[in-house]
Amino acid sequence: LNNGLALTPQMGWNSWNFFACNINETVIRDTADALVSTGLADLGYNYVNIDDCWSNVKRGKKDQLLPDPKTFPSGIKDLADYVHGKGLKLGIYSDAGIFTCQVRPGSLHHEKADAAIFASWGVDYLKYDNCYNLGIKPKDRYPPMRDALNSTGRQIFYSLCEWGQDDPALWAGKVGNSWRTTDDIQDTWKSMTDIADKNNKWASYAGPGGWNDPDMLEVGNGGMTFAEYRAHFSIWALMKAPLLIGCDVRNMTKETMEILSNKEVIQVNQDPLGVQGRRILGQGKNGCQEVWAGPLSGNRLAVVLWNRCEESANIIVKLPSVGLDGSSPYSVRDLWKHETLSENVVGTFGAQVDVHDCKMYIFTPAVTVASS
Ligand code: GLA
Ligand code: GLA
Repeated sequence: LNNGLALTPQMGWNSWNFFACNINETVIRDTADALVSTGLADLGYNYVNIDDCWSNVKRGKKDQLLPDPKTFPSGIKDLADYVHGKGLKLGIYSDAGIFTCQVRPGSLHHEKADAAIFASWGVDYLKYDNCYNLGIKPKDRYPPMRDALNSTGRQIFYSLCEWGQDDPALWAGKVGNSWRTTDDIQDTWKSMTDIADKNNKWASYAGPGGWNDPDMLEVGNGGMTFAEYRAHFSIWALMKAPLLIGCDVRNMTKETMEILSNKEVIQVNQDPLGVQGRRILGQGKNGCQEVWAGPLSGNRLAVVLWNRCEESANIIVKLPSVGLDGSSPYSVRDLWKHETLSENVVGTFGAQVDVHDCKMYIFTPAVTVASS
């Protein structure tokens, strides 16, 4: 969507994956504080996004949306001011149907008034869900909110959460800044890998202004191993997915922080070229030794070797298979070791990768010194 936003994928935090409906204004404030104190805000995680359950179950006398008086007694404007005071942005949630998924008021047929109230509160981001949609096609339900947000005059990031209904990559580029390509993520290896494959299919439709959204991160929520979370984060970064943290940032382990704060991996996600990386090939039994890659600015290439097999594997790449020159030297940087491995890789490259783990690299054409 050409609204000046999403030139790179959005980064931040969202309440749903960890808190579900158990949210309140204190959790949101403390999360904003934690994003700043942990240094995550400085790394680019700047949206603080409230998901479902912030609103009262009934609209007010003038049909207006109201915050839940028990859990958000100070109101959303107050929270937006607080979050802005920390240098962050505030996101909110509604639904392109008559109710949200947790049966709070939806915005279908209330688009103008709801967009106006969000803007008046100082909201910077809207996640717009798909429950209770009366069977109306998303192509008909999502544009009215785009137009309503646009007419507020406030720049508001527009995140479509239509669960991949009607292949949004084919039509949502003019509607939203990102669109969900799949059902909800679960905190499991199976869900994460299925979603990666489904999202991969739409790679060519992503770009500055509009991104495929394979759903929010589960890193730090406990259902996967360190290796699996590292692969989850690396592949989401490579796929130019939104990097929306879904754990409790007030209370993270060292391992969780190590993954979420990997600056070199974040830079791949935020690269200005904005091309979604994709699965290039699979080797071994069932093709489970996977090679994913995507171009970066400066003639560089990001490469992920992802071992989805049930045993450790030596994954080998012939450089032309990922689009590199077969006879020129490359410098190879390991983004998890934070180390340049070699300045002179020619022809093939390989590495041992643990079960469900990945290795992530940037290949840069080596500087060759002309001989005299
Ligand atoms: C849907 C969305 C989720 C979350 C919940 C909230 O399932 O896809 O991301 O917003 O609703 O109820
Ligand atoms: C079902 C659920 C929703 C949401 C979608 C995602 O419809 O009821 O809350 O999770 O699946 O596909």
